[in-house]
Amino acid sequence: MKILVIGGGGREHALVWRLAQNPTVDRLFAAPGNAGIEEEAHCLPVAADDVRALVEFVETEDIDLTVVGPEAPLVAGLADELMARGFRVFGPGREAARIEGSKAWAKELCENHGVPTARSRLFTSFPDAVEYLDEIEPPFVIKADGLAAGKGVTVTEDRAAAEDALRAALVDRAFGEAGDRVLVEEYLEGQEVSAFALTDGRDVLPLVLAQDFKRVGDGNRGPNTGGMGAYSPVPFVDDVTARRIWIDVVERVVRAMDVDGVRFLGVLYAGLMLTADGPKVLEFNCRFGDPEAQVVIPRLRSDLAELFLACVEGNLGLYKTIWTPDACVTIVLASGGYPGEYETGMQIRGLDAAREVDQTLVFHSGTERRGGRVVTAGGRVLAVSSLGATISEARARAYDAASQISFQGMHYRKDIAERVAEEAT
Ligand code: AMP
Ligand code: GLY
Repeated sequence: MKILVIGGGGREHALVWRLAQNPTVDRLFAAPGNAGIEEEAHCLPVAADDVRALVEFVETEDIDLTVVGPEAPLVAGLADELMARGFRVFGPGREAARIEGSKAWAKELCENHGVPTARSRLFTSFPDAVEYLDEIEPPFVIKADGLAAGKGVTVTEDRAAAEDALRAALVDRAFGEAGDRVLVEEYLEGQEVSAFALTDGRDVLPLVLAQDFKRVGDGNRGPNTGGMGAYSPVPFVDDVTARRIWIDVVERVVRAMDVDGVRFLGVLYAGLMLTADGPKVLEFNCRFGDPEAQVVIPRLRSDLAELFLACVEGNLGLYKTIWTPDACVTIVLASGGYPGEYETGMQIRGLDAAREVDQTLVFHSGTERRGGRVVTAGGRVLAVSSLGATISEARARAYDAASQISFQGMHYRKDIAERVAEEAT
């Protein structure tokens, strides 16, 4: 079997690493991949959102299964293009990808089908939205409707900053079309968790929960990032809450789409706030999280390629998943300046020493090979994942491995999974 994985981050490295373990996979390709992925797959110099070039490659190579990592090609309709040509693809079509591509659409879906989520109002007019700010209490939550490269959400106590966010989207069109509609949403308090489930559009196979650390600095300070670390399982989610997440949120929303004639095939990611009134949806994504994939996938014992194929063939109902009871913790090593501006091309040292740490995987996020050296090529550079019998053990290994690695400007959070590790002991 020939598989193509689309994307070039740590999430895709984790996918490639796991897919390579299926004995029937004889050729693995990645587009564009990175210096770590290159060790397991043949990397193509094609961008993850270059739909035309990707379709052409799948046709030329007669790829048996295409696995799409990031959201942009899905929202752009890559899965539809491939399916129309008779190719198997793991990832939703354009319409179902709206669950991530349009926050207004996702919100309406939740409201129409009783999926618990933050209350919100949709605006297209700046004056109307500003007037609404006077009716509600801070903190204000402002969300651009469409994909805005992680910059479309503002959460602020400050009324002026909220107004600025509305102006940026609705007047200055900082996000282009993606900001022509804006949601002003109720602020929710609690712990955030990420839930992942595979689905063939009808049957839903829950994976596991993870927690991501979005702020750049220790103690959740500083600006938002794509994610600076993660761990799984999430010990403070009790069985009742977990059932509510899988049944009242994930299954319900997949059924709701099915009823509406929108088949969601792929992995559904629910970002949830565990509020005093139970779990509520903050956002849906139509793909795995990054860096959550780097803790979820190492815990999976079942064959990932088989599960993806079951989704594509529509017989996921016949499958179960097996997990290691071990915990997994990942630490993201980032370039100096990230999430702001940063330089690339810094030589990375210590990769082999890090990999020698027991039960440890070093996933590449933003790296490339130059001559014989591996250098930085992105904001998030590496995700160091370790397994352990407890979160505390996994965490100690991951930090040990991270400390072996160095590059100019490197920084990482020192408190990933710290609190849960302490509480569990
Ligand atoms: P999103 O892209 O919708 O997940 O938003 C990015 C981040 O903003 C989330 O991970 C939360 O930390 C925060 N956030 C989003 N919506 C809310 C909300 N309704 N209440 C509080 N925080 C929120
Ligand atoms: N880690 C958050 C995301 O992948 O969207």
